[in-house]
Amino acid sequence: MKSVLVLAVLLQVFVSNTDCYNYKDVVQKSLLFYEAQRSGKLPSDQRVTWRKDSALNDKGANGEDLTGGYYDAGDFVKFGFQMSFTATILAWGLLDHEKGYEAADSLEEGRKALKWALDYFLKAHVSENVFYAQAGSGVLDHNYWGRPEDMTEARPTFMINTTNPGSDLAAETAAAMAASYLVFKEVNATYANILLTHAKQLYSFAYKYRGKYTDAFDDIRCCYNSSGYEDELVWGAAWLYRATGDKTYLTYVDTEYTNIQYYIGFSWDQKAGGADVLLAKLTGESKYLTKMKNYCDQIINSQQRTPKGLIFISQWGSLSNTAYVMQICLETAALGVNADTYRAEAKKQINYMLGDTGFSYVVGFGTNYPTHCHHRAASCPNAPATCDWTQYSTTDANPHVLTGALVGGPGANDDYTDVRSDYVHNEVATYYNAGFQSVLAALIELGYSD
Ligand SMILES: *[C@@H]1O[C@H](CO)[C@@H](O)[C@H](O)[C@H]1NC(C)=O
Ligand SMILES: *[C@@H]1O[C@H](CO)[C@@H](O)[C@H](O)[C@H]1NC(C)=O
Ligand SMILES: *[C@@H]1O[C@H](CO)[C@@H](O)[C@H](O)[C@H]1NC(C)=O
Repeated sequence: MKSVLVLAVLLQVFVSNTDCYNYKDVVQKSLLFYEAQRSGKLPSDQRVTWRKDSALNDKGANGEDLTGGYYDAGDFVKFGFQMSFTATILAWGLLDHEKGYEAADSLEEGRKALKWALDYFLKAHVSENVFYAQAGSGVLDHNYWGRPEDMTEARPTFMINTTNPGSDLAAETAAAMAASYLVFKEVNATYANILLTHAKQLYSFAYKYRGKYTDAFDDIRCCYNSSGYEDELVWGAAWLYRATGDKTYLTYVDTEYTNIQYYIGFSWDQKAGGADVLLAKLTGESKYLTKMKNYCDQIINSQQRTPKGLIFISQWGSLSNTAYVMQICLETAALGVNADTYRAEAKKQINYMLGDTGFSYVVGFGTNYPTHCHHRAASCPNAPATCDWTQYSTTDANPHVLTGALVGGPGANDDYTDVRSDYVHNEVATYYNAGFQSVLAALIELGYSD
């Protein structure tokens, strides 16, 4: 009797440890999250129908149409730097893991999610050296709780230009458009060529007129500070080199590489890791590959972990930061470095996010998932019911399921509480999902999905 019990317990442990998740389903859901973040006039094929048209008067200083694009997180600001990084990452995944997207039956939706950002960048890039960096004020916007459809707050827009440049922002957007050129080249060459023209212009704007976009205008400092632009100049040049084959961009890489001041993996602010693995692939130079191998080995062997095994990089957005690091290590694995180890680790980290601890950090996936994520739109009942700070404070679950959103995630001790007020652990963001989604596409391509 006892041994049967032991066997049963063992069996259960065995089963839960080899649990497979339907990564394809998660990719499909993640793409729904991007729909929920759409600003502007929604298309007729919008599937997340509890969201409606919003911010239809977003305009530049000279009346330029700046509608469209994505709301950043649980708020309604269109932060250009985070949006462009999101686009670069989505494009990278679609380009190098097209088979993963195809297997998830999500290639077309994936391209649509990317195009939604690109079409906005095309509007925001009003002339060669003028690019709108932001629509909506972080300072004003964060005083409001309610639906995006009902916003009455002022929506100022902010630009970078030759007197107030933003090399980080311009180079990241150049990277997004160069990578997207490759995604769309065979889908629509006309569109792809438009993207490439803008990519080249934005890169040369970034390179010639130096500065951090967070020094260009005040409003952004409420919310995101950029640590430097040298990494984006390298990353942007790497993508333009990949898109054009023009070796001039490699000389930019060499010039700027030594000026990179920080090396902390890969995130909306830190591009060096991504640039290294991309350059390793494009140039075959061993210095890049060696750097990546050392970095991934260090992350896997020595980085802090939570008691339940999550590689822990930061308190704020812990899961997304881990996913980004797994993304660059998977790209390193694809170049033949420690492939089994890096892939097994990536799978383990993703499985932590999807339910290995008994909780799924992806809204709407699994049976036990966040029901109170910090997201204004999802927290509001359908109009015409009132939605304001009372709704923020209620302990009721969000009336709308924000399907596919990866929440910030646990703290260093696997600690996490599903409350709306905890934006550090329970907010969502378009850039949280991008790396995560790309890792899933890579794992699907490897045949790891259920
Ligand atoms: C250049 O950008 C700065 C910062 O956004 C802005 O204050 C200034 O008005 C812009 N200059 C022109 C000529 O538009
Ligand atoms: C290709 O892109 C161009 C430029 O955006 C657009 O006008 C055209 O309608 C697109 N063609 C197709 C078949 O989607
Ligand atoms: C950004 O930097 C400014 C000073 O340069 C500081 O006042 C602000 O708190 C910082 N914001 C964030 C979100 O770190």
